Amino acid sequence: MLAGRPARRELLAVKGTAQMGPYTLLRLERGGMEPGIPGQFFMLEAPGRILPRPMSLCLAPPGELAFLIDPIGAGTRALCGLRPGDAIHVLGPLGNGFDLDVERPLLVAGGIGIAPLPYLAERLGGDVPVLLGFRSDVHAEAARLLPDAEVVVEPRLVTELLPDDPGDVLACGPEPMLEALRELAPSSQLAWEAPMACGYGACYGCVVELSESYVRLCTYGPVLREGQTLDTSAGDDERATSE
Ligand SMILES: Cc1cc2nc3c(=O)[nH]c(=O)nc-3n(C[C@H](O)[C@H](O)[C@H](O)COP(=O)(O)OP(=O)(O)OC[C@H]3O[C@@H](n4cnc5c(N)ncnc54)[C@H](O)[C@@H]3O)c2cc1C
Ligand code: FES
Repeated sequence: MLAGRPARRELLAVKGTAQMGPYTLLRLERGGMEPGIPGQFFMLEAPGRILPRPMSLCLAPPGELAFLIDPIGAGTRALCGLRPGDAIHVLGPLGNGFDLDVERPLLVAGGIGIAPLPYLAERLGGDVPVLLGFRSDVHAEAARLLPDAEVVVEPRLVTELLPDDPGDVLACGPEPMLEALRELAPSSQLAWEAPMACGYGACYGCVVELSESYVRLCTYGPVLREGQTLDTSAGDDERATSE
């Protein structure tokens, strides 16, 4: 997993937003920020909330950083409500991204896990196979970010599309999908999530159990690979909550 240049914190202006089914693509002026390595993340100031929210970079056109956001709570809803003329503080890039030095990449995502894949596909040269799974046709509207992707909607699962010899899987999605991929393709690089308050190792809010020890996912991950086994049995009630 790869980390890039040191993180910066800047106030970035909102360029615009676009609706992708239930998700919002939030486009920010890039300022002097680096886009980093796909799979790294940024802490976005959430208007009206004390703590910032972690987001993966979705797209990095010249002069811009764009994030795909699922409005699941107060912070993400506030981010989705931003409009041109607004500005928010952004810190990043943070954490360790995907190792792009792979021979046969296969990108796999479920739901909002699609967020880091457009930038990942671009950095891998563009012409890479992509498998996407969504819970409904409305959610699957986000697949237009990756027009050549193979897409399934529940009850079909994205893991059903996995070939016998999947190559180098790079994936992001809900824990059950990542668990399944860990069984089906053990060498996969998987982007995990945990609630994060700081994003750079200071608060210990993102501690996860990994191969019988405890690590801060924000600095150790969020991308983990074979041999880096996350224990997901603790459940949501043992996780830190955000404010
Ligand atoms: C490295 C990383 C990258 C991420 N990238 C994206 C992205 O690109 N797009 C996107 O939409 N979301 C992304 N997320 C998830 C996003 O940060 C959370 O959904 C967001 O912080 C929730 O804030 P909220 O105020 O809307 O909801 P809250 O009110 O804080 O939370 C709503 C519910 O979700 C739970 N929850 C919150 N955050 C997490 C989490 N990280 N893992 C598990 N449960 C959680 C809470 O416990 C609560 O039950 C990412 C998370 C991480 C760690
Ligand atoms: S989010 Fe603060 S230590 Fe990881």
